[in-house]
Amino acid sequence: MGSTLISNGTVVNADSAIRADVLVRDGRIVALGIGSDWTADHVIDATGKLVIPGGIDAHTHLEYPIDGFTTRTADDFHTGTVAAAHGGTTTILDFVKKEPGRSLYDTYLRRRDAAARRSVVDFGLHAIVPPRDQQPDVLDDLRRLADEGAASWKFFMAYPGTQMVDDGELLAGFELARELGVLPMVHAENGHMVARETQRLIDSGRTAEHFHATAHGHDAEAEAVHRAIVLAESVGAPLYVVHVSSAAAAEEISRARADGRRVWAETCPQYLQVAYEDYAGLGERAAAYLCSPPIRERSNQEGLWKALVTGALATVATDHAGFCMHQPDDLPPQKLRSPGYFPKVPNGVPGIEDRLMVLWEGGVASGRIDPCRFVDLVSTRPAKLFGLFPRKGIVAVGADADLVVWDPRADHVITTAGTHMRTDYNLYDGMRVTGKPVHVLSRGDHLVDASGSFDGAAGRGAFAERGTPHLF
Ligand code: URP
Ligand code: ZN
Ligand code: ZN
Ligand code: ZN
Repeated sequence: MGSTLISNGTVVNADSAIRADVLVRDGRIVALGIGSDWTADHVIDATGKLVIPGGIDAHTHLEYPIDGFTTRTADDFHTGTVAAAHGGTTTILDFVKKEPGRSLYDTYLRRRDAAARRSVVDFGLHAIVPPRDQQPDVLDDLRRLADEGAASWKFFMAYPGTQMVDDGELLAGFELARELGVLPMVHAENGHMVARETQRLIDSGRTAEHFHATAHGHDAEAEAVHRAIVLAESVGAPLYVVHVSSAAAAEEISRARADGRRVWAETCPQYLQVAYEDYAGLGERAAAYLCSPPIRERSNQEGLWKALVTGALATVATDHAGFCMHQPDDLPPQKLRSPGYFPKVPNGVPGIEDRLMVLWEGGVASGRIDPCRFVDLVSTRPAKLFGLFPRKGIVAVGADADLVVWDPRADHVITTAGTHMRTDYNLYDGMRVTGKPVHVLSRGDHLVDASGSFDGAAGRGAFAERGTPHLF
């Protein structure tokens, strides 16, 4: 592994930006200094570049089973983490969905093994809490899971009949999370409202792909966010809301935080940078854009940016759940399997590789946020919330050498062919960006070089130990 010196860059953390050299040895940062005369086995000249902590994507779905485990997302832990690394992400937090006929606990152990065999960057796993009728003793498993490093659990308020839990289950789960120091997370959409609206659309023949967004209204999201906050507060639990898409929902979070509630929330690049207007006229090709909650009207975007600036939205993750438009060899038909009928389109969009470039462009290059805030959103805050800090999420002596040398003046065009995700389309295809990663190190290993060459074996990624969340 040896040593690496990253010289002459500007080290950007969430709270500072300073000119400094970074010395890496045996996977950790061992020194930071100005004008050093250090030598190392490998030197990266970062003149004119930023040195930032590796991205942490707190929301990915690699080889994620859907439709009763009959198919899965296109990227597995190998292809997905190779793509992540190319985009400057060195840690992912993925999800465990209970397999039929297997307990959540056993599923978790199997999935952790699978991720350890295939990942090229470090990973952690959030447990998805199944409805009680799928596993009556699930609370016992959750206790054991907390001991096994699953320091965050997600509850679905959407998808009735398969994944949705009721308010009683939310309360019991939140209460146990508080007791064990686990951070509960919610997919906040009112599943009954969405199901009812979906049925109304089907009954009136409005099943074209873009009606998905009509079915998943702003109200359904804002209602669920509000309810989750109230329920968490009633049992003294903190709360993390995943993939906030509606400015109305972000408003709920903003109000709650102003009232002192311990709630944090995430949004995703697709909600900031892509709009309903981009796909409403595409016919069946709109399937490429379908995810839940949906990509909303362009007029909604400014409210999300405002919430990112004020802190009501604390993190930017991808919710990477990529499906191909055309059938990949090893999987059943995906996005186009039921043209003209949105209820059967698999939900989810790719983006694990694009996240940092897209947020830099819309956020930093456009003057909405500064590079420190950028680092906080993509790395430091997720590290803190999910118990990875200060081992990850910061460029500091003693931290893992998960580092990105970032060119803030790149002139790069994102293309489907130029990215490494397995999906056969990219929502940002053709987008010109002015910031991009040029070197990516994971625990000191130089995975991605300026030439774009990649050096990292499947299985080198490690399960990331997680401590107590920093909830402040
Ligand atoms: O549509 C989405 N977001 N699919 C992935 C699963 C989820 O709900 O996050
Ligand atoms: Zn979700
Ligand atoms: Zn998701
Ligand atoms: Zn190099």
